Amino acid sequence: MAVVLTNQGFVASEALHYPYQERGLQFGDGIYEVIRVYQGRPYLMTEHLDRLYRSAEAIKLTIPFDKEHLRQQLLALINENRLTEDGLIYLQITRGSAKRLHLFPDCEPNFFAYTDKLARPLEQIKTGIKAITKQDIRWHYCYIKSLNLLPNVLAKQEAFEQGAFDAILHRDQIVTESTAANVFIVKDDVIITHPATERILHGCVRNRLILLAKLNEIPVVEAYYSVSDLLEANEVFLTSSGIEVLPVVEIDGKKIGTGKVGVMTKSLQDLYQRDAGLK
Ligand SMILES: Cc1ncc(COP(=O)(O)O)c(C=O)c1O
Repeated sequence: MAVVLTNQGFVASEALHYPYQERGLQFGDGIYEVIRVYQGRPYLMTEHLDRLYRSAEAIKLTIPFDKEHLRQQLLALINENRLTEDGLIYLQITRGSAKRLHLFPDCEPNFFAYTDKLARPLEQIKTGIKAITKQDIRWHYCYIKSLNLLPNVLAKQEAFEQGAFDAILHRDQIVTESTAANVFIVKDDVIITHPATERILHGCVRNRLILLAKLNEIPVVEAYYSVSDLLEANEVFLTSSGIEVLPVVEIDGKKIGTGKVGVMTKSLQDLYQRDAGLK
């Protein structure tokens, strides 16, 4: 039986019941994180926890325990669930259970975290995926990892219905990110990705990859680029905790570069895999 970590400690997943008057359910008034686990070991946990506390501050939610305590609890959760293979930790914190009124209630935040198995998408990492482009209609504070994911869900579903893996979003032709990943292009051996402004999630894999590129003297710039730059790029790839460094070989029915996984993308996959202890 799966174990879930809550405000009350570890409980069996079946024993976890949520009231219908709950801020996350009724307002999406909460934040979350997804931490990658490889062979039972969390990857970039510090970065994820730092972002969680930044998201909490941005929505004026006080997390009722400190980061180090949370880290220890999450490591214990992995043990409780005997997660020794590839997987993830999902955690969320909402403003709590209270009568449905917009003003902040006077109550404790609700917290839970669980683990799950998640295999690496090895085939897609090797051969690449197709994407579509879509207008980014989300709110302006996409750097907050908020529970409000309806625009992301709708865009991802539309991509699926068009035979693609993901939708790459743009605000008035400036590419921001995808529904659940950051987007990079390669042009003339330079890697380009949207700057870490309020308009994108500051992805832990994104930031790590920029660092790894710099350490390996690969030119990388954080700059705005357009949908036409995206379509004309030599290579395009997505990054996230679930998909790692995922090549995009076709967008809106048009081949990217040669239509095959590019040399730069392969080098970055290699750097990622070494950093994550996968090689
Ligand atoms: C909208 C969005 N952008 C980017 C990312 C990548 O973030 P990370 O690299 O921290 O997994 C995610 C991850 O879920 C996301 O939902």
